[in-house]
Amino acid sequence: MVLQKIKESKKDYLHLLLLADPDVGAIERYLYKGDLYIYKDADTPVAAAVLYPLKDGQCELKNIAVLEELQGKGIGTEFLKLLMKLAAEKYQYMMVGTTSQTEGFYKSLGFEYSHTIPNFFIDNYPEPIFENGIQCIDMRCFQIKL
Ligand SMILES: CC(C)(COP(=O)(O)OP(=O)(O)OC[C@H]1O[C@@H](n2cnc3c(N)ncnc32)[C@H](O)[C@@H]1OP(=O)(O)O)[C@@H](O)C(=O)NCCC(=O)NCCS
Repeated sequence: MVLQKIKESKKDYLHLLLLADPDVGAIERYLYKGDLYIYKDADTPVAAAVLYPLKDGQCELKNIAVLEELQGKGIGTEFLKLLMKLAAEKYQYMMVGTTSQTEGFYKSLGFEYSHTIPNFFIDNYPEPIFENGIQCIDMRCFQIKL
């Protein structure tokens, strides 16, 4: 498996990014200013993520997704560990905004709860977002020192 930074034709990876963020408009707001990374198995991209620069030595993991049929096999963990290593060369902290349903993934990698942004998923998306049948309302933010 190989990690690759993508500079051209970022839209080719929308099918992966849409697994984590259902709104193309929202993805486009961070895709071009952020750094897009993919994780490839031979020539097949199996995961994608966007790291977005913030101020004060922080970056935000704006999106991370693994192909649906390959989820739950440790690929997301492997990929995020590599991204954290890479980000540590440039940043001191990585933040991530998530829903209560996916926070277990970040906690297992050492991310700690920082704060909640009430109504984030209602205020920032044109349509209601559901995850496993539960509406996403507040965004819970986690961070890790790199
Ligand atoms: C979230 C995601 C990137 C994790 O990648 P993955 O390869 O499936 O995860 P791993 O197999 O490395 O799992 C690592 C741990 O996180 C947990 N986990 C994985 N996905 C989870 C989820 N959606 N909710 C809660 N826990 C999750 C696993 O149970 C595992 O814990 P365990 O080792 O105790 O069993 C992947 O499931 C995905 O693409 N989901 C859809 C998109 C998404 O929701 N992205 C995150 C947006 S905030």
